[in-house]
Formats: sequence, C-alpha cells, structure tokens
Amino acid sequence: MDLKIRPRRNRKSDSVRESLAETSLSLNKLIYPIFIAEDANLKQEIRTMPGQHRWGQKSGLSHLQDAWKAGLRQFAVFPVVPEAQKDKKASGATDPDHFLIRFFKDFKNALPEATLISDIALDPFNSDGHDGLVRDGLIVNDASVDVLAKMAVVHASAGVDWVAPSDMMDGRIGAVRKALDEAGHEDTSILAYSAKYASAFYGPFRDALDSAPRFGDKKTYQMDPRNSREALRETRLDIQQGADIVMVKPALAYLDVIQRVKRFSEVPVAAYNVSGEYAMIKLAAQAGALDEKRAALESLIAIRRAGADVILSYWAFQAADWL
Ligand code: PBG
Repeated sequence: MDLKIRPRRNRKSDSVRESLAETSLSLNKLIYPIFIAEDANLKQEIRTMPGQHRWGQKSGLSHLQDAWKAGLRQFAVFPVVPEAQKDKKASGATDPDHFLIRFFKDFKNALPEATLISDIALDPFNSDGHDGLVRDGLIVNDASVDVLAKMAVVHASAGVDWVAPSDMMDGRIGAVRKALDEAGHEDTSILAYSAKYASAFYGPFRDALDSAPRFGDKKTYQMDPRNSREALRETRLDIQQGADIVMVKPALAYLDVIQRVKRFSEVPVAAYNVSGEYAMIKLAAQAGALDEKRAALESLIAIRRAGADVILSYWAFQAADWL
C-alpha cells in the first residue's frame, strides 16, 4: 500500500509506547478505602468484595502501615458500626469518644505524614440507613447539614486531613467550611462528593457496613443516572461553597461525567471506583472470565484518561504490587 501515514509506527515497541503514552497511573494517584470496626484484631473478609476486609482497630492500623510501606499515601476510612450503636439521630456521627475517632488519632500517631480522609455522611450511624436524618419518612436537608458540619469538626479535631461529605444534602459544603473555619481548622480540606449518583454499584459497600437504607432509596438526594448537566450544577455549587477537590461517583459507568466535570472544574477532580465496580472484576476473575490485574489496571487507566486527577479504589493495595 502507498501509505504515508502509518499510526502503527507509534506503537511498534514497548519503549515507543511508553514514551508516547498519553495517560499515566502511579501510586500517588490512588486513595485506598478501608473499613474499620471496633474489635481490636478483626480481619473479616467481605463476602461480596473478595480481598477486602472489615478490619479491627489494631489489625487495620497495621494493614495501613503495610500499605504505607508499599508506597500508598492516602487513605479513606469508613466505620463498621454495630446495629445496637445506631439510632435515629445518628448520634455516633458526632461522638468524640467513638471508636472511629480513636482510630483517627491512632492513625495520625502512627502515620503522621499520610493523608487521612473521612466520609461525612450519617448512614453508618443512622438506624434508618440514610445519609441524612429522617423525619416523617422524609430525609430532611437543613437539620442534617447541622449534624454533618458538627461531624466534620469532630473529625478534623481528631486529625483528619480531608473531610469528604458524601451525603448530597444541599448547602453542606458551605456549612462544613464555615464550621471548620470557626473551629480553627482552616487547613482541613474538603473533598466534595459533588456528582454522586443513586447507583446500584454501591451494593457491596452497603454489605460491608450493613448500611443499606432501611426504607426507600436515596434518589431524593443522590443524582439521577440519566443526568450529566446536573453534575456541573452540583460541582459549581460545591466549588462556590469552598470545595478543594470535587468528586464523581461511581467512576466506570460515569466516565463521560468525569470528562465533563474535568473540563468545567477549576479544582482537581477525584473519582470513586466503587465497590460494585471492584466486585464485578474480582468475581469475574475468580470465575476465570478475565485477567484480574489487566482488567483492574485498564479500568484505572480509563478513569485517569477520562480526567480524574485522583482515584479512590479498592485495588490500591494490590496496585502497589503491580505498579
Ligand atoms: C455513604 C457512602 C456510600 C459509599 C461511600 N460513602 C454508600 C451510599 O451512598 O449508599 C459507596 C462506596 C462504594 O460503593 O464503594 N454515604
């Protein structure tokens, strides 16, 4: 053939491909989410998330120290709260003596240089299983925001570096920023779950925490999967109210949203490669349907290519080995 232009030349060897790659993935782009329970030495595998565990206070900390040694630097901690400790006011969320708060302090003592990220939402502590308070069957906005702002201050006081409101109540970023500043935590960052969708892909996470909503669903606060323009509206509001980083969640079924938000946003963009996305690959690999490492790394690269600056992913610990 008389071809002047042959794109295959740019793919002809490993070194050519490495030098011309448009997207990169490295450990400093990953945040490792972990589930922490009250018992000291627990290590209980989550049935729907093979390879992920409910960890105890001590065993969890030593796992995170291993992760630090392996090169991971940023960690998102989620509490596994026993049913008996949940109530309709989600009291545990603002309790400065909660085991989660003790864990944060131990974490900062053991790993002072690591970035500690905490979820700000009521669902792990709420007997209704919703991210906000429930009154007369409705998830109320403004009263929930008051509790979320207090929760953020309790977390920041325990040493949390980034608070991450994941509740999707209106006005919570501004309220959290104001409460943090008034309490002298102007250096605490806000990672806002700005475009968080009402998604089926959170199933395994809700298994891990036993935090599924006890009635109804989360559609009056989490976004409708049919919308992406609305993601820009949510992102703009969060940036105006003081978000340092905005997030799109889930990631893989929302790559277009990540790309759109990235073009629009003046702050860094995070994406959450959620539990269901992890489970899909993990379980398919266990069934022999695909190669786990290649499929996991390909999806992480896809999320980066779409525009994510940083990715929360359950693959982070394994990726430390792979990369
Ligand atoms: C709680 C929260 C959820 C996730 C992160 N924070 C679940 C939910 O909104 O129901 C999901 C994470 C995952 O699936 O990996 N607000």
